[in-house]
Amino acid sequence: MQREHWGSRIGFILAAAGSAVGLGNIWKFPYLVGAEGGGAFLVVYIAFLIAIGLCVMIAEIALGRHAQANPFSAFKRVGGAGWSIFGLMAVLTAFLILSFYSVVGGWTIAYVVKTLTGGFSGYSGAEFEGHFGALVTDAVEPIIYHGAFMAIGVLIVINGISGGIEKASKIMMPLLFILLALLVVRSLTLEGAWAGVEYFLVPDWSHLNPDMVAAALGQAFFTLSLGMGALITYGSYLGNKESIPNAAMWVVGLDLLVAVLAGFLILPAVFAFNMDPAAGPGLTFITLPAIFAELPFGTFIQLCFFVLLFVAAITSAISLLQVVVAFICEEFNVGRKAATIWVGIVIFLFGVPSSLALGVWGDVTFFELNFFDFLGYLTDNYFLPLGAIATCLVAGWVSYDKFAAEVTNDGERPFAYLIAWKWMCRVFAPIAIIYVMAHSIFGV
Ligand code: PHE
Ligand code: NA
Repeated sequence: MQREHWGSRIGFILAAAGSAVGLGNIWKFPYLVGAEGGGAFLVVYIAFLIAIGLCVMIAEIALGRHAQANPFSAFKRVGGAGWSIFGLMAVLTAFLILSFYSVVGGWTIAYVVKTLTGGFSGYSGAEFEGHFGALVTDAVEPIIYHGAFMAIGVLIVINGISGGIEKASKIMMPLLFILLALLVVRSLTLEGAWAGVEYFLVPDWSHLNPDMVAAALGQAFFTLSLGMGALITYGSYLGNKESIPNAAMWVVGLDLLVAVLAGFLILPAVFAFNMDPAAGPGLTFITLPAIFAELPFGTFIQLCFFVLLFVAAITSAISLLQVVVAFICEEFNVGRKAATIWVGIVIFLFGVPSSLALGVWGDVTFFELNFFDFLGYLTDNYFLPLGAIATCLVAGWVSYDKFAAEVTNDGERPFAYLIAWKWMCRVFAPIAIIYVMAHSIFGV
């Protein structure tokens, strides 16, 4: 059977940008900037994004396109059976991450529904903390929303690459940019917004420390969807004529743009209302609604924000779902529809303990972490970095010639930074990743 392809270059870029732009940009990035000291973090982050993230992204897309297969077979084809274990790990990582990413995705649906049905009206400031707590610790409600989120993902992926994922991305990504632009303008015109802009943009180098550097590189990988097979899989449907470095630059650029805009949205609002920029994960779900409640047309603004968050999350989730679906279809000869439905159900079920871990199963711990945090810890600190290192080594050493041919379209489109890219894959990226792993695991 002929392998599916993206309908157009822009379709691939929007789908890959859809994968990259997610909760990582809008939820995690602003609170990391807040917690890690503003502008200094931003500078380090951008340096990693371009120097390392972009190189690994080029390698992942090239791996997928060269092998024309899911991550498991892709690693096998370029590296042999021994390397295929990393492909398997990538599929497992996508599975695990989606199981808890979808729980958070469910919260975004819950907030949209509650905003629409007036479930939030009458709340003020501090009450949102209790409200958020009540939602995520409930035994049933968040599981229903998690199920709804997975179901929407299944409905998109079941229609295939160009008919499902590409079509959805072409509608949702423009919507995402419109909502974001609207919200940024509102936030920047708040009285006292400027302090937030300053905090965001003016580097204070006293915040530079190993923790911050490790957080910046970890975030650069997560935000670009690297290390879990998403771009290997999306790359496997990319046409032979397209330039990989060019497409990758677009994806990195769009991802950075959204992160920066999210910073311009959230930090000015936080400063204008004298809230704490280092509030951590609750910044999005607690601090912001409390601010919205104070604004004229607050309900409408809140609706825009949580629709934005939902769109960002679902376009990322479908890229993870597609990794697992492609693997099941190709390795076990299952049809796309059946595979998508079954994978969706299994990931939904696997996500249930993550949801419960924030409430009734909070006491059940793995290495002193609840299940939700444990999965995040495992994937962030071990699986993602190992997957990224494996991709770099295959691209830089094991099959460099094949990768160079892929990246330059057999020499037809010279890539000016080919040598820099090669050495980044061979030496610099792996060393940087190992440093971050060692730092987060052993604290060195
Ligand atoms: N890149 C996404 C984000 O920033 C997260 C993600 C990781 C999505 C891996 C898909 C695959 O939120
Ligand atoms: Na991202």
